[in-house]
Amino acid sequence: MKFFNAIISSLILALTLSSCKQEGTAEKKNQTAKMNSLVQKQAWGQLADGSPVDLYTLTNKNGLVAQITNYGGIVVSLMTPDRNGKMEDVVLGYETLDEYVRDNPYFGCIVGRYGNRIAKGQFELDGKTYNLAKNNGENHLHGGLKGFDKVIWEAVPDTSEGEASLNLTYVSPDMEEGYPGNLEVRVVYTLTKNNELKITYFATPDKKTHVNLTHHGYFNLTGNAQRDILDHQLSITSNGFLEVDASLIPTGSLTGLNGSPFDFKKPKRIGIEINTEHEQLKRGQGYDHCWLLSSSQTASMKVPAATLYEPVSGRYMEVFTTEPGIQFYSGNFLDGKYKGKGGVVYQDRWGLCLETQHFPDTPNRSQNEWPSTIVMPGSHYSSTTVYKFAVK
Ligand code: GLA
Repeated sequence: MKFFNAIISSLILALTLSSCKQEGTAEKKNQTAKMNSLVQKQAWGQLADGSPVDLYTLTNKNGLVAQITNYGGIVVSLMTPDRNGKMEDVVLGYETLDEYVRDNPYFGCIVGRYGNRIAKGQFELDGKTYNLAKNNGENHLHGGLKGFDKVIWEAVPDTSEGEASLNLTYVSPDMEEGYPGNLEVRVVYTLTKNNELKITYFATPDKKTHVNLTHHGYFNLTGNAQRDILDHQLSITSNGFLEVDASLIPTGSLTGLNGSPFDFKKPKRIGIEINTEHEQLKRGQGYDHCWLLSSSQTASMKVPAATLYEPVSGRYMEVFTTEPGIQFYSGNFLDGKYKGKGGVVYQDRWGLCLETQHFPDTPNRSQNEWPSTIVMPGSHYSSTTVYKFAVK
Protein backbone atom coordinates (compact mmCIF):
# COMPACT_ATOMS: atom_id res chain seq x y z
CA MET A 1 0.00 0.00 0.00
CA LYS A 2 2.85 2.32 0.99
CA PHE A 3 4.52 1.54 -2.31
CA PHE A 4 1.29 2.20 -4.22
CA ASN A 5 0.79 5.59 -2.41
CA ALA A 6 4.36 6.59 -3.20
CA ILE A 7 3.80 5.88 -6.90
CA ILE A 8 0.55 7.90 -6.93
CA SER A 9 2.29 10.84 -5.17
CA SER A 10 5.18 10.82 -7.63
CA LEU A 11 2.73 10.69 -10.51
CA ILE A 12 0.79 13.69 -9.13
CA LEU A 13 4.08 15.57 -8.56
CA ALA A 14 5.28 14.79 -12.07
CA LEU A 15 1.96 15.92 -13.58
CA THR A 16 1.95 19.14 -11.52
CA LEU A 17 5.55 19.89 -12.45
CA SER A 18 4.92 19.28 -16.11
CA SER A 19 1.83 21.50 -16.14
CA CYS A 20 3.80 24.25 -14.31
CA LYS A 21 6.56 23.83 -16.83
CA GLN A 22 4.06 24.06 -19.66
CA GLU A 23 2.52 27.18 -18.13
CA GLY A 24 6.01 28.65 -17.66
CA THR A 25 6.91 27.84 -21.24
CA ALA A 26 3.62 29.25 -22.48
CA GLU A 27 4.19 32.44 -20.51
CA LYS A 28 7.72 32.70 -21.87
CA LYS A 29 6.42 32.11 -25.39
CA ASN A 30 3.81 34.82 -24.85
CA GLN A 31 6.46 37.24 -23.66
CA THR A 32 8.70 36.42 -26.59
CA ALA A 33 5.82 36.81 -29.04
CA LYS A 34 4.90 40.17 -27.46
CA MET A 35 8.54 41.24 -27.60
CA ASN A 36 8.81 40.04 -31.20
CA SER A 37 5.83 42.08 -32.27
CA LEU A 38 7.28 45.26 -30.74
CA VAL A 39 11.03 44.73 -31.13
CA GLN A 40 12.86 42.83 -33.80
CA LYS A 41 16.58 42.30 -34.12
CA GLN A 42 18.52 41.63 -37.28
CA ALA A 43 22.20 41.34 -38.09
CA TRP A 44 23.33 44.51 -39.87
CA GLY A 45 26.87 43.78 -40.95
CA GLN A 46 30.21 44.20 -39.28
CA LEU A 47 32.97 46.73 -38.73
CA ALA A 48 36.41 46.41 -40.32
CA ASP A 49 37.68 44.60 -37.18
CA GLY A 50 34.93 42.00 -37.52
CA SER A 51 32.69 43.31 -34.71
CA PRO A 52 29.10 42.44 -35.53
CA VAL A 53 26.50 45.21 -35.61
CA ASP A 54 22.73 44.79 -35.21
CA LEU A 55 19.67 46.72 -36.25
CA TYR A 56 16.63 46.81 -33.95
CA THR A 57 13.16 47.64 -35.18
CA LEU A 58 10.96 49.13 -32.47
CA THR A 59 7.22 49.50 -33.04
CA ASN A 60 4.73 51.10 -30.68
CA LYS A 61 1.08 50.16 -30.37
CA ASN A 62 0.05 52.87 -32.87
CA GLY A 63 2.38 51.59 -35.55
CA LEU A 64 5.20 54.16 -35.25
CA VAL A 65 8.46 52.47 -36.14
CA ALA A 66 12.04 53.36 -35.20
CA GLN A 67 15.06 51.48 -36.50
CA ILE A 68 18.06 51.83 -34.23
CA THR A 69 21.50 50.31 -34.56
CA ASN A 70 23.92 49.57 -31.73
CA TYR A 71 26.66 51.23 -33.83
CA GLY A 72 26.71 54.78 -32.43
CA GLY A 73 23.16 54.33 -31.12
CA ILE A 74 22.04 55.70 -34.46
CA VAL A 75 18.33 56.13 -35.18
CA VAL A 76 18.43 54.95 -38.79
CA SER A 77 14.78 55.66 -39.55
CA LEU A 78 11.69 56.95 -37.78
CA MET A 79 8.31 56.38 -39.40
CA THR A 80 5.46 58.65 -38.34
CA PRO A 81 2.07 59.32 -39.98
CA ASP A 82 1.18 62.47 -41.90
CA ARG A 83 -2.29 63.97 -41.52
CA ASN A 84 -3.72 61.31 -43.85
CA GLY A 85 -2.12 58.51 -41.91
CA LYS A 86 0.65 57.92 -44.46
CA MET A 87 3.72 56.55 -42.68
CA GLU A 88 6.98 58.13 -43.81
CA ASP A 89 10.48 58.54 -42.53
CA VAL A 90 11.16 61.84 -40.73
CA VAL A 91 14.92 61.58 -40.19
CA LEU A 92 17.88 61.74 -42.55
CA GLY A 93 20.34 58.88 -42.73
CA TYR A 94 21.68 56.01 -44.75
CA GLU A 95 20.45 52.52 -45.64
CA THR A 96 23.63 50.63 -44.83
CA LEU A 97 26.14 50.35 -42.00
CA ASP A 98 29.07 50.88 -44.38
CA GLU A 99 27.80 54.31 -45.37
CA TYR A 100 27.51 55.34 -41.72
CA VAL A 101 31.03 54.12 -41.05
CA ARG A 102 32.47 55.83 -44.15
CA ASP A 103 31.18 59.36 -43.68
CA ASN A 104 28.48 60.35 -41.24
CA PRO A 105 27.82 64.02 -40.43
CA TYR A 106 26.37 62.71 -37.13
CA PHE A 107 23.06 61.52 -38.67
CA GLY A 108 20.85 60.23 -35.85
CA CYS A 109 23.59 59.28 -33.41
CA ILE A 110 24.29 59.56 -29.70
CA VAL A 111 26.86 62.28 -29.15
CA GLY A 112 29.35 62.10 -26.29
CA ARG A 113 31.31 62.36 -24.10
CA TYR A 114 30.73 66.05 -24.80
CA GLY A 115 28.18 67.23 -27.34
CA ASN A 116 29.06 70.45 -29.21
CA ARG A 117 32.36 72.35 -29.14
CA ILE A 118 35.18 72.75 -26.64
CA ALA A 119 37.45 75.64 -27.56
CA LYS A 120 40.95 74.78 -28.77
CA GLY A 121 40.36 71.13 -27.81
CA GLN A 122 41.43 71.77 -24.27
CA PHE A 123 40.17 72.26 -20.72
CA GLU A 124 41.58 72.43 -17.24
CA LEU A 125 40.23 70.43 -14.34
CA ASP A 126 41.73 70.73 -10.84
CA GLY A 127 44.89 72.31 -12.21
CA LYS A 128 45.48 69.66 -14.87
CA THR A 129 45.18 70.41 -18.57
CA TYR A 130 43.39 67.84 -20.70
CA ASN A 131 44.04 67.80 -24.44
CA LEU A 132 41.33 66.60 -26.77
CA ALA A 133 41.27 66.05 -30.52
CA LYS A 134 40.85 69.19 -32.61
CA ASN A 135 38.42 67.75 -35.11
CA ASN A 136 36.62 70.97 -36.05
CA GLY A 137 39.18 73.54 -37.12
CA GLU A 138 41.01 74.47 -33.94
CA ASN A 139 38.17 73.17 -31.74
CA HIS A 140 36.97 69.86 -30.39
CA LEU A 141 33.52 68.75 -31.60
CA HIS A 142 31.05 66.07 -30.45
CA GLY A 143 33.45 63.97 -28.39
CA GLY A 144 36.37 63.79 -30.80
CA LEU A 145 37.65 61.53 -33.54
CA LYS A 146 35.93 58.45 -32.20
CA GLY A 147 33.10 59.72 -30.06
CA PHE A 148 30.10 57.77 -28.78
CA ASP A 149 28.65 58.03 -32.29
CA LYS A 150 31.27 55.58 -33.58
CA VAL A 151 31.41 52.93 -30.86
CA ILE A 152 29.49 49.70 -30.48
CA TRP A 153 26.95 49.74 -27.68
CA GLU A 154 25.70 46.69 -25.82
CA ALA A 155 22.00 46.52 -26.65
CA VAL A 156 19.11 44.98 -24.73
CA PRO A 157 15.56 45.45 -25.99
CA ASP A 158 12.54 45.66 -23.73
CA THR A 159 8.79 46.09 -24.11
CA SER A 160 5.91 47.14 -21.91
CA GLU A 161 2.26 47.92 -22.61
CA GLY A 162 2.41 49.00 -26.22
CA GLU A 163 5.88 50.55 -25.89
CA ALA A 164 9.24 49.36 -27.12
CA SER A 165 12.67 50.27 -25.74
CA LEU A 166 16.30 49.72 -26.49
CA ASN A 167 18.79 49.90 -23.61
CA LEU A 168 22.25 50.78 -24.81
CA THR A 169 25.30 50.63 -22.56
CA TYR A 170 28.90 51.55 -23.16
CA VAL A 171 31.92 51.89 -20.89
CA SER A 172 34.17 54.69 -22.04
CA PRO A 173 37.69 54.01 -20.75
CA ASP A 174 39.76 56.51 -18.76
CA MET A 175 41.40 59.05 -21.12
CA GLU A 176 39.39 57.90 -24.13
CA GLU A 177 39.53 60.84 -26.57
CA GLY A 178 41.45 62.66 -23.81
CA TYR A 179 38.69 62.76 -21.14
CA PRO A 180 39.51 61.73 -17.57
CA GLY A 181 37.84 58.77 -15.85
CA ASN A 182 36.15 55.56 -16.84
CA LEU A 183 32.55 56.42 -17.62
CA GLU A 184 29.68 53.95 -17.53
CA VAL A 185 27.02 55.22 -19.91
CA ARG A 186 23.48 54.03 -20.49
CA VAL A 187 21.10 55.47 -23.04
CA VAL A 188 17.52 54.23 -23.32
CA TYR A 189 15.46 54.89 -26.42
CA THR A 190 11.72 54.30 -25.95
CA LEU A 191 9.02 54.52 -28.55
CA THR A 192 6.17 55.30 -26.19
CA LYS A 193 2.46 54.63 -26.61
CA ASN A 194 2.02 58.42 -26.77
CA ASN A 195 3.98 58.57 -30.03
CA GLU A 196 7.15 59.89 -28.46
CA LEU A 197 10.75 58.99 -29.05
CA LYS A 198 11.97 59.32 -25.49
CA ILE A 199 15.69 59.31 -24.76
CA THR A 200 17.07 58.97 -21.26
CA TYR A 201 20.76 59.25 -20.58
CA PHE A 202 22.64 58.04 -17.50
CA ALA A 203 26.37 58.18 -16.77
CA THR A 204 28.63 57.47 -13.80
CA PRO A 205 32.37 58.22 -13.80
CA ASP A 206 35.05 56.97 -11.45
CA LYS A 207 36.96 60.26 -11.69
CA LYS A 208 35.83 63.87 -11.92
CA THR A 209 35.03 64.53 -15.59
CA HIS A 210 32.82 66.48 -17.99
CA VAL A 211 29.72 64.92 -19.53
CA ASN A 212 27.26 66.45 -22.02
CA LEU A 213 25.28 63.84 -23.93
CA THR A 214 22.86 64.51 -26.74
CA HIS A 215 21.14 63.05 -29.77
CA HIS A 216 21.87 64.30 -33.27
CA GLY A 217 18.76 63.43 -35.29
CA TYR A 218 18.33 65.44 -38.50
CA PHE A 219 14.57 65.96 -38.84
CA ASN A 220 12.71 66.58 -42.05
CA LEU A 221 8.96 66.30 -41.47
CA THR A 222 8.03 66.40 -45.18
CA GLY A 223 8.44 62.60 -45.03
CA ASN A 224 11.22 60.73 -46.86
CA ALA A 225 13.02 64.10 -47.23
CA GLN A 226 11.23 65.58 -50.19
CA ARG A 227 12.76 69.05 -50.02
CA ASP A 228 14.64 71.40 -47.68
CA ILE A 229 13.38 72.34 -44.22
CA LEU A 230 12.98 76.07 -44.90
CA ASP A 231 9.16 75.88 -44.92
CA HIS A 232 9.03 74.12 -41.56
CA GLN A 233 7.65 76.35 -38.82
CA LEU A 234 9.75 76.37 -35.68
CA SER A 235 9.15 77.73 -32.21
CA ILE A 236 11.71 77.80 -29.41
CA THR A 237 10.52 78.66 -25.91
CA SER A 238 13.46 80.85 -25.02
CA ASN A 239 14.33 84.46 -24.32
CA GLY A 240 17.95 84.37 -25.37
CA PHE A 241 20.71 82.60 -27.27
CA LEU A 242 24.49 82.48 -26.98
CA GLU A 243 26.40 84.53 -29.52
CA VAL A 244 29.29 82.71 -31.13
CA ASP A 245 32.67 83.72 -32.50
CA ALA A 246 33.83 82.87 -36.01
CA SER A 247 34.68 79.29 -34.95
CA LEU A 248 31.22 78.83 -33.35
CA ILE A 249 32.45 78.98 -29.75
CA PRO A 250 30.10 81.05 -27.54
CA THR A 251 31.59 84.46 -26.78
CA GLY A 252 29.78 84.48 -23.45
CA SER A 253 27.30 87.14 -24.50
CA LEU A 254 23.73 86.19 -24.01
CA THR A 255 21.66 88.01 -26.57
CA GLY A 256 17.97 88.83 -26.28
CA LEU A 257 15.75 87.83 -29.14
CA ASN A 258 13.09 90.45 -29.57
CA GLY A 259 12.21 90.82 -33.21
CA SER A 260 15.54 89.42 -34.40
CA PRO A 261 15.93 86.47 -36.82
CA PHE A 262 16.69 84.45 -33.66
CA ASP A 263 13.28 85.16 -32.15
CA PHE A 264 11.29 81.92 -32.43
CA LYS A 265 9.01 82.62 -29.46
CA LYS A 266 6.09 82.34 -31.85
CA PRO A 267 6.20 79.67 -34.59
CA LYS A 268 8.06 81.05 -37.58
CA ARG A 269 9.03 79.73 -41.00
CA ILE A 270 12.71 78.82 -40.73
CA GLY A 271 13.52 80.22 -44.16
CA ILE A 272 11.98 83.61 -43.60
CA GLU A 273 15.06 85.34 -42.15
CA ILE A 274 17.82 82.77 -42.50
CA ASN A 275 19.51 84.75 -45.27
CA THR A 276 19.18 88.22 -43.75
CA GLU A 277 22.29 90.29 -43.08
CA HIS A 278 23.15 89.34 -39.52
CA GLU A 279 26.62 88.77 -38.17
CA GLN A 280 25.53 85.71 -36.16
CA LEU A 281 23.78 84.11 -39.15
CA LYS A 282 26.88 84.75 -41.21
CA ARG A 283 29.07 83.02 -38.62
CA GLY A 284 26.79 80.00 -38.42
CA GLN A 285 26.15 79.99 -42.18
CA GLY A 286 22.56 79.92 -40.97
CA TYR A 287 21.30 78.83 -37.56
CA ASP A 288 23.82 76.90 -35.48
CA HIS A 289 23.36 78.33 -32.00
CA CYS A 290 22.38 77.39 -28.48
CA TRP A 291 19.11 78.81 -27.11
CA LEU A 292 18.65 78.99 -23.34
CA LEU A 293 15.75 77.20 -21.70
CA SER A 294 14.29 78.32 -18.38
CA SER A 295 14.78 76.12 -15.34
CA SER A 296 11.05 76.10 -14.56
CA GLN A 297 10.43 74.72 -18.04
CA THR A 298 13.12 72.05 -17.86
CA ALA A 299 12.19 71.01 -14.31
CA SER A 300 8.61 70.15 -15.21
CA MET A 301 9.14 69.16 -18.87
CA LYS A 302 5.57 70.35 -19.42
CA VAL A 303 6.32 73.26 -21.75
CA PRO A 304 7.99 72.25 -25.00
CA ALA A 305 11.50 73.59 -25.51
CA ALA A 306 10.72 73.65 -29.23
CA THR A 307 7.94 72.79 -31.67
CA LEU A 308 8.23 72.02 -35.36
CA TYR A 309 5.43 71.96 -37.93
CA GLU A 310 5.50 71.03 -41.59
CA PRO A 311 2.38 72.45 -43.26
CA VAL A 312 2.13 70.15 -46.30
CA SER A 313 2.29 66.81 -44.43
CA GLY A 314 0.68 68.25 -41.28
CA ARG A 315 3.36 66.60 -39.15
CA TYR A 316 3.97 68.33 -35.83
CA MET A 317 6.77 67.58 -33.39
CA GLU A 318 7.32 68.84 -29.85
CA VAL A 319 10.61 68.62 -27.99
CA PHE A 320 10.69 68.40 -24.19
CA THR A 321 13.90 68.25 -22.20
CA THR A 322 15.53 68.50 -18.80
CA GLU A 323 18.58 70.16 -20.41
CA PRO A 324 19.28 73.90 -20.00
CA GLY A 325 19.97 74.51 -23.71
CA ILE A 326 18.94 73.52 -27.21
CA GLN A 327 21.21 73.80 -30.23
CA PHE A 328 19.19 74.53 -33.34
CA TYR A 329 21.32 73.61 -36.34
CA SER A 330 19.69 74.25 -39.72
CA GLY A 331 21.74 71.69 -41.67
CA ASN A 332 24.08 74.32 -43.10
CA PHE A 333 26.88 71.89 -43.83
CA LEU A 334 24.80 69.50 -45.88
CA ASP A 335 26.07 70.36 -49.31
CA GLY A 336 24.89 67.63 -51.64
CA LYS A 337 27.75 65.26 -50.88
CA TYR A 338 25.60 62.89 -48.80
CA LYS A 339 23.39 60.49 -50.72
CA GLY A 340 20.92 59.16 -48.20
CA LYS A 341 18.05 56.69 -47.97
CA GLY A 342 16.15 56.05 -51.19
CA GLY A 343 18.99 57.65 -53.15
CA VAL A 344 17.94 61.12 -52.00
CA VAL A 345 20.81 63.60 -52.14
CA TYR A 346 20.73 65.84 -49.08
CA GLN A 347 21.32 69.39 -50.18
CA ASP A 348 21.93 72.44 -48.06
CA ARG A 349 19.36 72.64 -45.23
CA TRP A 350 17.53 69.42 -46.01
CA GLY A 351 17.48 68.46 -42.34
CA LEU A 352 17.55 70.26 -39.02
CA CYS A 353 18.79 69.27 -35.58
CA LEU A 354 17.36 70.20 -32.21
CA GLU A 355 20.12 69.01 -29.91
CA THR A 356 19.24 69.29 -26.23
CA GLN A 357 22.33 69.87 -24.14
CA HIS A 358 24.38 71.96 -21.72
CA PHE A 359 26.07 74.97 -23.27
CA PRO A 360 28.99 74.61 -25.66
CA ASP A 361 32.46 75.09 -24.15
CA THR A 362 31.21 75.01 -20.54
CA PRO A 363 34.45 73.25 -19.40
CA ASN A 364 36.28 76.52 -20.19
CA ARG A 365 33.87 78.75 -18.30
CA SER A 366 34.45 79.82 -14.72
CA GLN A 367 32.47 77.81 -12.21
CA ASN A 368 28.82 78.73 -11.74
CA GLU A 369 28.82 81.00 -14.78
CA TRP A 370 26.82 78.40 -16.68
CA PRO A 371 25.18 75.13 -15.57
CA SER A 372 28.11 72.86 -14.82
CA THR A 373 28.98 69.80 -16.90
CA ILE A 374 31.25 68.35 -14.21
CA VAL A 375 30.21 64.94 -12.92
CA MET A 376 31.86 63.75 -9.71
CA PRO A 377 33.17 60.21 -9.20
CA GLY A 378 30.41 57.80 -8.25
CA SER A 379 27.67 60.37 -8.81
CA HIS A 380 24.95 59.89 -11.37
CA TYR A 381 24.44 62.08 -14.42
CA SER A 382 20.98 61.83 -15.92
CA SER A 383 19.06 63.67 -18.58
CA THR A 384 15.83 63.17 -20.53
CA THR A 385 14.60 64.42 -23.90
CA VAL A 386 11.33 63.61 -25.63
CA TYR A 387 10.49 64.13 -29.31
CA LYS A 388 6.70 63.85 -29.53
CA PHE A 389 4.91 63.34 -32.85
CA ALA A 390 1.42 64.39 -33.85
CA VAL A 391 -0.41 65.97 -36.80
CA LYS A 392 -2.27 69.23 -37.20
C1 GLA B 1 26.36 70.36 -34.69
C2 GLA B 1 27.18 71.58 -34.84
C3 GLA B 1 27.25 71.96 -36.26
C4 GLA B 1 27.77 70.82 -37.10
C5 GLA B 1 26.92 69.61 -36.87
C6 GLA B 1 27.47 68.43 -37.57
O1 GLA B 1 25.06 70.62 -34.82
O2 GLA B 1 26.72 72.64 -34.05
O3 GLA B 1 28.08 73.07 -36.41
O4 GLA B 1 29.08 70.53 -36.74
O5 GLA B 1 26.82 69.33 -35.52
O6 GLA B 1 27.74 68.65 -38.90
